[in-house]
Amino acid sequence: MSMKLFVTSNGCLFSIIVIVLSWLVLLAEAELPPCSIPWRLPCPLPPWPHTYNMQLSTQQYFFSSPDFYDNATVAFAALHGVVGIDWANNYGHPVHREETLAQQAALIKAVNPTTRVFVYRQSELALNIFDTGANAMYDPSKASSWFVLFPNGTIYNDSTIVGGFRMDQFCWDHRNPDVRDYFVNQYVGSAFNQTTIDGIFYDDDGGIWQERQNYPDYGDDYRKAVDAAQQISLNRAWELGLSYGKHAWQAWLTPTIPTSDDTPSNCAQKMRTAISMKDVPVSFPTFYNGACGLPWEQCKDLKQQLAAFLIARGDYWVFFHAVYMVERRIRS
Ligand SMILES: *[C@@H]1O[C@H](CO)[C@@H](O)[C@H](O)[C@H]1NC(C)=O
Ligand SMILES: *[C@@H]1O[C@H](CO)[C@@H](O)[C@H](O)[C@H]1NC(C)=O
Ligand SMILES: *[C@@H]1O[C@H](CO)[C@@H](O)[C@H](O)[C@H]1NC(C)=O
Ligand SMILES: *[C@@H]1O[C@H](CO)[C@@H](O)[C@H](O)[C@H]1NC(C)=O
Repeated sequence: MSMKLFVTSNGCLFSIIVIVLSWLVLLAEAELPPCSIPWRLPCPLPPWPHTYNMQLSTQQYFFSSPDFYDNATVAFAALHGVVGIDWANNYGHPVHREETLAQQAALIKAVNPTTRVFVYRQSELALNIFDTGANAMYDPSKASSWFVLFPNGTIYNDSTIVGGFRMDQFCWDHRNPDVRDYFVNQYVGSAFNQTTIDGIFYDDDGGIWQERQNYPDYGDDYRKAVDAAQQISLNRAWELGLSYGKHAWQAWLTPTIPTSDDTPSNCAQKMRTAISMKDVPVSFPTFYNGACGLPWEQCKDLKQQLAAFLIARGDYWVFFHAVYMVERRIRS
């Protein structure tokens, strides 16, 4: 998108035309219809039959562990309808995350084949713990055009130490069509042929600047263009996933849910909003109250939340309970 080429005395108009044309080209790549509820992403229904079985309507996300989760954690995961596995599963191991996430999914499925397992993919950052990430990141032919660059032309690199190894974090430049193809078909797509994987958790789906504190002053136009292109990649990945029978975790929308601190009218308004979402996939959160596993965590609203869920729920709703901190359980 070399806008500068078109900037003449009436450069502003030309720039606008170029931006609009770029948008049209990008939008033509994505065919998923917009969500019926106002939201920046589509919200397709999961590609499997709906269920009102309560156990299969539960959802939980599992965090870090230096190796595969221990058997107690696997057994707990396998009690759920839908679980997600974080990038930091097996964080003691610096490579092959595509394979280890699929293997962890298989270990959970072996205990309960009806549990649907989602695995992590990062949509803003290229990470070297994924082989498909590393293969692109250290390929010199991609250094100048595949990643967000600092103004001096070097790759934006949020390198960090995880356990005993160096994890480099570059930002995909989704404006490059080759990046979009690679992101969709190779990086995310590496999960689509895995029978033990039911879907993808797309981290940082809100834009590439979400977690980047130490970025220099990129202009607004640049940021918006990269963000817009990231959304196109996400749309395409979701769409391809659906063709493989895989879902996107972020397709579940999240309403604001009632709490015991609400006034009756506040509560009624929240319930009306939730009920208006019957026809879209909804992840009904109870996690703000903590995991209920430790004394300082308040779970006073849990029964009411379950009641609210049962009153409001549609076909593809899940009761999302507490992010599960595996290591905290192991330590405590
Ligand atoms: C964990 O489960 C696996 C598979 O069932 C079993 O082979 C292994 O012995 C178990 N490990 C422990 C520590 O119980
Ligand atoms: C390029 O800019 C980044 C960010 O300001 C800086 O950390 C890096 O050292 C610079 N690299 C070179 C080769 O100047
Ligand atoms: C990223 O940062 C790490 C740690 O400072 C460094 O070793 C590596 O060479 C950097 N890579 C690039 C492409 O900037
Ligand atoms: C899945 O496997 C088939 C057959 O090997 C291959 O043609 C296809 O490209 C694979 N899809 C992805 C997304 O890797």
